Amino acid sequence: MYHFHKDRKEVTIDHYNTPTPWMNYLSNGTFHTMISQAGGGVAFYRSPQIWRINHYRFFHLPTDRSGFYTYIKDNQDIWCPTSEPCKLKPDQWKAAHGMGYTRYEASKNGLEVTATYMVGKYENALLWDLKLKSDEDKQITVFPYVELGMMEFMRELQWQCYNKHQLSAYNLEDILIYRYGVEDQPKPKETPLVYFACDTEISGFDCDRDEFIGSYRSEENPIRVEENACSNSTLYGGDPCFAFQLTVDLKAGEEKEIHIFLGTAMTEEEILASVKNCRQKNFISKSMEALKQDWDEFLEKFQCELPDKEAETMINIWNPYQMERNFQFSRNISYYATGTFRGVGVRDTAQDILAMIPFDTKRAKDKLNLLFTQQYQDGHCNHYFFPTEGWEPVKRIHSDNHLWLVMDVYHIVMEEGKLDYLFTELPYYDGGENGTVWGHIKRSIAFTKKHLGEKGFPLMLSSDWNDMLYKVCREGKGESIWTSMQFGTVLNMMSQIAELMGEEASEYNRTYEEQKQLINTVAWDGQWFRRCITDEGTFIGSEAEEQAKIWLNTQSWAVISGMGDPAKQVQAMDSVRKYLNTEFGIKKIHPAMKDYPSKEDPLTYYNKGCGENGSVFCHANTWAIIAECMLGRSDLAYEYYHQLLPMVVQSRAGEYRYKAEPYVYASNIFGPESDKFGLANVSWLTGTAAWMYLAATQYLLGVKPRWEGLEIAPCIPKDWENIRIERVFRGCKYHITIKNRDKKVFIEHIEGRKEFSVEV
Ligand code: GLC
Repeated sequence: MYHFHKDRKEVTIDHYNTPTPWMNYLSNGTFHTMISQAGGGVAFYRSPQIWRINHYRFFHLPTDRSGFYTYIKDNQDIWCPTSEPCKLKPDQWKAAHGMGYTRYEASKNGLEVTATYMVGKYENALLWDLKLKSDEDKQITVFPYVELGMMEFMRELQWQCYNKHQLSAYNLEDILIYRYGVEDQPKPKETPLVYFACDTEISGFDCDRDEFIGSYRSEENPIRVEENACSNSTLYGGDPCFAFQLTVDLKAGEEKEIHIFLGTAMTEEEILASVKNCRQKNFISKSMEALKQDWDEFLEKFQCELPDKEAETMINIWNPYQMERNFQFSRNISYYATGTFRGVGVRDTAQDILAMIPFDTKRAKDKLNLLFTQQYQDGHCNHYFFPTEGWEPVKRIHSDNHLWLVMDVYHIVMEEGKLDYLFTELPYYDGGENGTVWGHIKRSIAFTKKHLGEKGFPLMLSSDWNDMLYKVCREGKGESIWTSMQFGTVLNMMSQIAELMGEEASEYNRTYEEQKQLINTVAWDGQWFRRCITDEGTFIGSEAEEQAKIWLNTQSWAVISGMGDPAKQVQAMDSVRKYLNTEFGIKKIHPAMKDYPSKEDPLTYYNKGCGENGSVFCHANTWAIIAECMLGRSDLAYEYYHQLLPMVVQSRAGEYRYKAEPYVYASNIFGPESDKFGLANVSWLTGTAAWMYLAATQYLLGVKPRWEGLEIAPCIPKDWENIRIERVFRGCKYHITIKNRDKKVFIEHIEGRKEFSVEV
């Protein structure tokens, strides 16, 4: 079982053995830690590819090892407040994931331990706060432990037999230090030292993992803990770890606090200074207060009170929290993604930016400026790039990447009510003169216009948003009907911006009309819109095909782009309901494929109902919600939204079927053509977070930034009354009450600024 706590913005979990690890991310923007409800996880400095700190063994059994453990030796009993990895479990236990921290409360044999982990903003360190209290006088030994690894995870897999003998871990004034310096490592000058320190006297330590754990043992039962004696090992070559032995005398009823610091700094001198700072009295409480304040300020930008408490929990707390983590980590490292290769994806990050805009336009613009550096003078963009690692980008040209940038710029202009950002000068990836942001997005449009296929739709190039479609366009002729709709959506945006800039918009409008014409003729299949055209000229997503007859995205985007004729929009979305909706969300395609179009060269190797092949693809569900709102069909829009709330689908499917966290969105849920129907996959890092947030706040609740001001046009269930919303917009906090769905909107109170403008 788990419980949400609105006041503390926490979720508490009362069993350690959840069906998959339920993660949290702790971060100060430089030092990051992913940590599970059982204390497993991985820490990294800036990049999990090249500056990973500890060993997390992805997909190995036992699952979720290793992590940030504290062994308690109390007479013969050895246990951990994280519950894992010891066999012996606490008598009472619970974990709490909060905004940027995770806490474990455990007790055994009259000893209560609270262990809180956080990454604060004052030091690049995982702070580990232990509170110990016993109901009788006793002496215990505490062993904090981290298994280190090579900082470059890929190199570790390939070359550890040589490189591991170039590692060192040693003791400097009772601070343990790990130095990663191997042949040919990237960015050696930016590579930090890692340290482990505490604010109490140590009775022993270990830096050699095998010395601490012992042969044929694991983190479940380290020999040094069993024998109650660390070996004071250092390590110059081998498998490193950090472990301390701390002797603690407790008087009955007395509480003792111990703090552990796992941090990074560039030199030994900086380590000494950093540890000194960490050891200061109140450093932990000061860090915790700042963390809380920063998150309160962030989340305060949009708060609501709704009759649907599950939706309220997501909109106020967990959805923006997840969105912020996606904004930082892109699709890099999670329980599912190993953090070895994917850097910053232009497509994914551009979409993450959309939801950051209402919270922090500065952060959104900084990230978008970085994406613009990946745009070429002809308007297309690199697909992935590695700004931290400095590796060569992945240069495949996809038909959608550069168009998302237009959408970001439009959202920024509407949020700010200013055109200033358009004049920012930024370089192109392939040189030439810098262009303004306005110039950059004009080139996005020009590129797509120049790359239309035989039938007149945008060429698919290496695929559109849907990665699996790469096979329909290997000869470069395949066309994307969906990209045409994305193109139409951003042409509308360009036209609006052009008018605001006092420039001619007719060219954008004309291109829009041309594409619209094609959408309603060539792309219309009779009951829905087709998906794409293969190199050979076959339509994918058609009644005439045996499989994958209907695809979700071209139905929802026919509405979002406004390109479908009104009756066709409705019919297309009715087909979505008829063929794609399930009790656990909307499938992306129907029917799922097997050996289609041929056994020798199938469109996908995904099993039926999995991933790209007929699962409930949550990211794409968000667009169906938006489309239903745009059609004004509030009951359907709400049904699609509510059924995918993670705690709702988790409880409908059952914890052990759904498996993933009930507090963040997953990328997809296995569909009905799989016997694992209802299993959530790839949670945390997914475009679902950003788009679901927009769907909920800007479409269902209908609080949308427009050039003229804040538009309030809710599309909510008939029986919802007295919805309260607070929204910070252009430096002013709006307190909004929606009395009922007749859309009577009351702006109750404006703080800090007199002028405002609302469209109802
Ligand atoms: C994954 C990718 C994303 C892609 C989507 C659909 O979520 O991260 O880039 O758009 O799959 O294929």
